[in-house]
Amino acid sequence: MKDLKISENDVTQQPVKIAARDVQVYYDQTHAIRDVSVDIQDRNVTAFIGPSGCGKSTFLRCLNRMNDTIPSSRVEGTIRIDGEDIYDRKVDPVQLRAKVGMVFQKPNPFPKSIYDNVAYGPRIHGLARNKAELDEIVERALRRGAIWEEVKDRLQAPGTGLSGGQQQRLCIARAVATEPEVLLMDEPCSALDPIATAQVEELIDELRRNYSVVIVTHSMQQAARVSQKTAFFHLGNLVEYGDTDDIFTNPKDPRTESYITGRIG
Ligand SMILES: Nc1ncnc2c1ncn2[C@@H]1O[C@H](COP(=O)(O)OP(=O)(O)OP(=O)(O)O)[C@@H](O)[C@H]1O
Ligand SMILES: [Mg+2]
Repeated sequence: MKDLKISENDVTQQPVKIAARDVQVYYDQTHAIRDVSVDIQDRNVTAFIGPSGCGKSTFLRCLNRMNDTIPSSRVEGTIRIDGEDIYDRKVDPVQLRAKVGMVFQKPNPFPKSIYDNVAYGPRIHGLARNKAELDEIVERALRRGAIWEEVKDRLQAPGTGLSGGQQQRLCIARAVATEPEVLLMDEPCSALDPIATAQVEELIDELRRNYSVVIVTHSMQQAARVSQKTAFFHLGNLVEYGDTDDIFTNPKDPRTESYITGRIG
């Protein structure tokens, strides 16, 4: 039997943050997610892996109701965050997305200054009482996005004028500025060079002290480096879910094994 790991990094001991049950997603006739049930833990990084088109982004978007914005999509089943059904009619999707932040594959800064990109969320949610407090929130978020040093002297310059990697880190800063509890990241490093990738991975590792982070990645190395839990998707099914170490060293399903060893993909 495997020894129980007891440490700060223990992945077996964290409470459940997101509980998904029997989730189905359709785009018109396409059945993109099939009967997925999973418990995603707090204070952990969960990696979603699997071949292109298997439904990683679709399932990720369910977790903060971004699929609501796609008219052809239909979500069935239940998803609870801290016990609350996020598809309940009482839930305001805008409030939900402040609590469950998202970073996309392609950096998408607003056509605003660097400062205003980060200040946007805190402003609409009334997180600062005055300019000094807002300045503080913006600086803290930019530091957490590992981009403060590069932009501190040009906070009023447009966010869209940054390099791709800088834009992505700005978007991460924007996402953490509202102090979300869950951060969803869809291939956040695919446009980044190795240095920026390392910075983002370090940031993800820091974020998990307080947050539940879910990251979609095509890089097995990245999944192995940053995550404690891994979910392998294939053709809309969640095939295998468990401790990252186990998934990579001792996969139970032959499809998982084929994928991680590079035979399907
Ligand atoms: N907006 C959409 N409209 C219709 N079908 C969609 C839409 N988005 C995704 N799909 C379909 O749903 C299925 C899952 O797609 P999804 O984008 O979730 O896969 P993925 O695992 O994220 O793939 P990739 O690794 O290429 O990003 C695919 O068959 C895809 O064609
Ligand atoms: Mg995707």
